[in-house]
Amino acid sequence: MIAEPATGFIDIHHHIIYGVDDGPQTLEEARQMLALAYADGTRHIIATPHFNPTGYCPEIDLLQERLAELKAVCADEYPDLQLQLGAEVLFGEGIRRKLRAGAIPTLADSNYVLLEFVPGVSEDKLERAVRHLANGGYVTVLAHSERYPAITGNLKFTKYLKEKYGVLIQVNANTFVSRQRFHVKRFLKKALWLGIIDLVASDAHNTKNRRTMMKNAYVFLTEKYDKNQVNSLFYPTFTDIITDCR
Ligand SMILES: [Fe+2]
Repeated sequence: MIAEPATGFIDIHHHIIYGVDDGPQTLEEARQMLALAYADGTRHIIATPHFNPTGYCPEIDLLQERLAELKAVCADEYPDLQLQLGAEVLFGEGIRRKLRAGAIPTLADSNYVLLEFVPGVSEDKLERAVRHLANGGYVTVLAHSERYPAITGNLKFTKYLKEKYGVLIQVNANTFVSRQRFHVKRFLKKALWLGIIDLVASDAHNTKNRRTMMKNAYVFLTEKYDKNQVNSLFYPTFTDIITDCR
């Protein structure tokens, strides 16, 4: 039996760093997002700004500087809220080289990479990408998996990616508590039943239409599913990512 976690939610996908992507644009907005995340019950955030290996990649020094500012806010106001650096990476040419060079961060210095694709990505391209990373020693965490018909429409393929390459399937919290198209609803239901989803994360971008919804999703899911299973989605135990929060 999994004990009720002593720490709060671990959110491995959150655009908390300001002024570097379509997340918050100012320190003040990022502070408000921290307040919302804390009130939501999150106690560990991996900051995941967008990176595009063939396009815009924010400077690591700038990210570290802004992360330090936000850590200082936490030290003052939310001492038990931890922040670490990560990235949400659009798959593209040069990704492995840039990861190796440290120009693109992994999740909290682990070998896990939060990876995204354009929504219409094919099964073939997905597998080639995941294999490319695996051959370089990286494990894919598939960001907002519910967006890809290649994943939602073929659970056999999704299972195969998990078994062969250790891919972790991340779903956004708000997907569970907002209107969704039929095929997404069907995917969530089946994938939960089969234990295919590994992680729920906020993918928070702001304090309004893309705010953190971790608590709403947690409450919704615990009313319908086994609590131990739900806990494993919100308090991931893969220690490679979570280095110092428990
Ligand atoms: Fe994101």
